[in-house]
Amino acid sequence: MHQIHIAPMMGYTHRHFRYLMRRFCPEVLLYSEMVTTGALLHGDVKRHLDFDTTEAPVVLQLGGHDPQSLVRCARLGQDYGYAQINLNVGCPSSRVQEGGIGACLFKSPQLVASCVQAMVDAVSIPVTVKCRIGVDDHDTFEHLFNFCEAIQRAGCRFVVVHARKAWLGGLNPKQNRTVPPLRYDIVEHLTTKIGLPVVLNGGIQCHEALDKHLQLFPAVMIGRWACSDPLGFAQRFDQHPSRLPTARILDDYFAYVDRSLSRGERLSFLLQPLQALFHGQPGARSWRKSLNSLTHHANVSSGRSLSSFIEMTKRLPIDQFIRG
Ligand SMILES: Cc1cc2nc3c(=O)[nH]c(=O)nc-3n(C[C@H](O)[C@H](O)[C@H](O)COP(=O)(O)O)c2cc1C
Repeated sequence: MHQIHIAPMMGYTHRHFRYLMRRFCPEVLLYSEMVTTGALLHGDVKRHLDFDTTEAPVVLQLGGHDPQSLVRCARLGQDYGYAQINLNVGCPSSRVQEGGIGACLFKSPQLVASCVQAMVDAVSIPVTVKCRIGVDDHDTFEHLFNFCEAIQRAGCRFVVVHARKAWLGGLNPKQNRTVPPLRYDIVEHLTTKIGLPVVLNGGIQCHEALDKHLQLFPAVMIGRWACSDPLGFAQRFDQHPSRLPTARILDDYFAYVDRSLSRGERLSFLLQPLQALFHGQPGARSWRKSLNSLTHHANVSSGRSLSSFIEMTKRLPIDQFIRG
C-alpha cells in the first residue's frame, strides 16, 4: 500500500492539480474529487473521468448509495484506468445528505457493505471506503467497529478514517472539518481491534506529525496541507530519483497548460494548482498577482496562437523562486 495518500477534495484534486502534484510527489496515491453516480450515469463521462496517464496511480472516489449504479460507475472507472475505487462515506454537505450519500451512509453499515460487495464482485481493482469516526449520535466505538467489520467482510481492501465525527444537522462542511475535535486515539484503537488496514486522515500539517503517524498506521492521508503548501509537503520527495528540478516541472506544466487550452480547458482552472506553490516564501503574494494578471491577459487576448501562452509565462517571476 502507498504510505501517503492525497485526499479527495472537491474543487482542488481535479486532473490539473494531480498532473502537477504527481511531478512533485512521485510516490503518493492521488484521489479524484468525489464524482456522484448520478453525474456519471447522466452526464459527460469523459469530462468526469478522463485523465493523463502520467498522473497514475489515481483512485476514483464515488458518491452513491445504489449498488447497481455504483457497479456501473466502478466499471467505468476501471475502464478509464483508475487504480482503485473509493466510496465516500464522509462528506457532510446538505446537498449530499439530500441525495442520501456521503456521511449519512455511516448510519447504515449493511447498505454500505452491499455497495462495497457489489463493486468488489464487478471489478478487479481494489475497492475502499472513506469515513469518519462517527456521525451525529452514531458515534460509539462499537458502531465504528461494526461498520468497519461489515465493509471488511464485503471485501473492502482498506478504510480511510477521518479522525473526527460529523454533525450533519448543526455544522456546515467547513465547520465539520474544524469544529469536532480530532480523536486519533479512537482510530489507533480501531487498528488494534480490526484486521482491516486503516489509513489515518485529518489535521496532519507537518512532516514530524506525518512521520509519527506512519509508525502506527500503514498509511496516512493528507488533505488541506497538500493544497495550501504543495512544495512544503512535497519536500520529502526532493531527493527521489524521478523528481525533476522545480524549474523543469514548471516548464512541463506550462506545456501541459498549452495543450489543455487547445482542448478548450479554462486557463484560470489550469493555473489554480500553481497559486499556493510558493506559500510562505517572500514574494508569494506577487507570484499569485502575476498568475492572476496572466489569466486576465490571456482572457483579453484569447484567440492568439497557443505558443503565445508559453511566451506569456515569461511574465511570471519564476527566477525569483527557483532559478535565481
Ligand atoms: C475543499 C475540500 C473539499 C473536500 N472534498 C472532499 C471530497 O470530495 N471527498 C471526500 O471524501 N472528502 C473531501 N474533503 C475532506 C478531505 O478529503 C479530508 O478528509 C479532510 O480535509 C481532512 O483532512 P485534512 O485535515 O488533511 O485536510 C474535502 C476537504 C476540503 C478542504
